[in-house]
Amino acid sequence: MIEVENLTKYYGPRRAINNLTFQIAQGEVVGFLGPNGAGKSTTMNILSCILPASSGTARIQGYDTFEHSIELRKIIGYLPETPPLYPDMGVRDYLMFAAQIRGLTGKKVRSAVETVIEKCSLKDVSHRIIGRLSKGYQQRVGLAQAMVHDPDILILDEPTIGLDPIQIIEIRKLIQELASSHTIILSSHILPEITQICQRVIIINEGEIAAVDTLEGLTASLRKSERLSLTVRNDNNEIEGKLNSLEQVLSVLPGEKNQFLIECALNSNLQDEFARMALDNQWGLVEIKPISMTLEDVFLKLTIEEKDVKA
Ligand SMILES: Nc1ncnc2c1ncn2[C@@H]1O[C@H](COP(=O)(O)OP(=O)(O)OP(=O)(O)O)[C@@H](O)[C@H]1O
Ligand SMILES: [Mg+2]
Repeated sequence: MIEVENLTKYYGPRRAINNLTFQIAQGEVVGFLGPNGAGKSTTMNILSCILPASSGTARIQGYDTFEHSIELRKIIGYLPETPPLYPDMGVRDYLMFAAQIRGLTGKKVRSAVETVIEKCSLKDVSHRIIGRLSKGYQQRVGLAQAMVHDPDILILDEPTIGLDPIQIIEIRKLIQELASSHTIILSSHILPEITQICQRVIIINEGEIAAVDTLEGLTASLRKSERLSLTVRNDNNEIEGKLNSLEQVLSVLPGEKNQFLIECALNSNLQDEFARMALDNQWGLVEIKPISMTLEDVFLKLTIEEKDVKA
């Protein structure tokens, strides 16, 4: 239902996203994960009909986001990185205004506003001035304006950024509730957030897709290898090469001083072998221990090239 094909965006000479292609089905909750500057907001702005692409297409329910932006805006709710709030307005007045510019009229305006006030737990602050609310409540008002016209699709750019842990849990809970009846795309650079809310993840890095997978798929890729940490006392620039010479060693990453992170084939049980090598070569063995890989590691692996880690 959302189809993105070869999407590219230049800001002047700077390329922000390059040839992105992905699909999102109706009812899916998909996470955009990527470091700062990866191109998440740019892609979301294009999907929300705010920004034209330089080339490629983004279609929602068959409509081009550039050609048919007026129709599409009716079914999209967008919470940009900075919520589009008027700080001098009261919460309810602002949401009434947001409902009206979304095309609602008559009694529908009030009932839509009451519904989002309820859903976003804004009842206690509905008469207050937006500019005087805490960041978390302002974020909720931002979410409420995105939902006021009851759109099928919600595009939420870092919805929990700047919130305290309690508010983060509450906003996540709200998004999880919305997930049963909406298609949701949300961005984050926090992996646990994505794992808690989303079914599928699109990892983007430097404007390009690094992986598109379900959480199960990403977790499965963890099971293909295991990691050990080897620490020795003596400086010896042969160690990396010697470790790499073993067939079951997939890669060796020098860590902190005289520590090596060794990625090994699954069930290779190389601890004894490493101990023997350390003794035979007088490296001065300090420690060998297994390191459990997390989804965070997969993310880092996909977004940081080895040369950057070594540098
Ligand atoms: N209006 C703009 N003019 C020029 N360059 C821009 C503009 N907006 C974004 N960029 C550049 O495009 C690239 C992608 O930016 P974008 O805001 O999409 O990243 P992001 O993944 O949302 O990052 P963050 O996690 O920091 O929000 C960055 O290099 C950024 O500097
Ligand atoms: Mg952004």
